[in-house]
Amino acid sequence: MTHSGFFSQQNVTANELEIEYMLTDASILLLKDNPMSVTPFVQAMLDPILTNPWQQLSTWFKSDDPTPFKTAHGMLVWDYAAHEPNFNNLFNDAMESDARLVTSVVIEKCKGVFNGLESLVDVGGGTGTMAKALAKSFPKMECIVFDLPHVVDGFQGSENLKYVGGDMFKEIPPADAILLKWILHDWNDEECVKILKKCKESLKQKGKEGKVIIIDMVLEIDHKGDITKSTETQLFFDMLMMVVVTGKERNEKEWSNLIYSAGFGGYKITPILGLRSMIEIYP
Ligand SMILES: C[S@@+](CC[C@H](N)C(=O)[O-])C[C@H]1O[C@@H](n2cnc3c(N)ncnc32)[C@H](O)[C@@H]1O
Repeated sequence: MTHSGFFSQQNVTANELEIEYMLTDASILLLKDNPMSVTPFVQAMLDPILTNPWQQLSTWFKSDDPTPFKTAHGMLVWDYAAHEPNFNNLFNDAMESDARLVTSVVIEKCKGVFNGLESLVDVGGGTGTMAKALAKSFPKMECIVFDLPHVVDGFQGSENLKYVGGDMFKEIPPADAILLKWILHDWNDEECVKILKKCKESLKQKGKEGKVIIIDMVLEIDHKGDITKSTETQLFFDMLMMVVVTGKERNEKEWSNLIYSAGFGGYKITPILGLRSMIEIYP
């Protein structure tokens, strides 16, 4: 645990007989009573429903299945969540814990990105953790949490927040800004271009310039083979996207190809937290 960075150690006595172990930034994030705890995320990632597909790589590779998750469970992950309420809750709790952490930083560091927006739709917004925080911080902004019906059914909105169930490949509610947090890395390039084109249609219906705000990883892997501190994490997330969904992690060039292929005119990348960046894209 010390080697992996979950504890740090120091000698209490000069002769090294007594060693003291201390929490690190990583393990503090796993404490139950930490309001920013990401334990639900770790628990979901370690649940057999998400680890079993890793055992199916060889079978998947020789099959026509789109993902190892489908090879293991007979259906795509989003259909599985729609059929299995326990998994749906486990997955949504995991996303909520990540969203709490990321949102706290976004609202503190990137307020300017949302200033002046009259409406925002959080596409694939899960149970609404991020949209709720944005609606509270920007009371004049109308917020919509848009996700599949099995995710948003039964949730109550507030004065400037509502939940809408639907399919982002069909239609996205019109808004001045569209948030895509941890969405595009779930999908392959063709699917991402389709989603981004639907975003463009949504912005166009509002008739203003508007923007799409992506929160995702921008890969920084050095292809010369140099290992940086987070290389393994970046590669692991890329594999995770291959195993569970049809997506991947992308470097700046790959992001820019997607953005321009969907007909957008420009973009700006701002690093926000660890490996996560904000990519604002403009029509
Ligand atoms: C990785 S989660 C991200 C959730 C949330 N944005 C966050 O970061 O906490 C992906 C979300 O996309 C939603 N989703 C998948 N397919 C969708 C579709 N066709 N239309 C709308 N939402 C979809 C899932 O239900 C899930 O909530």
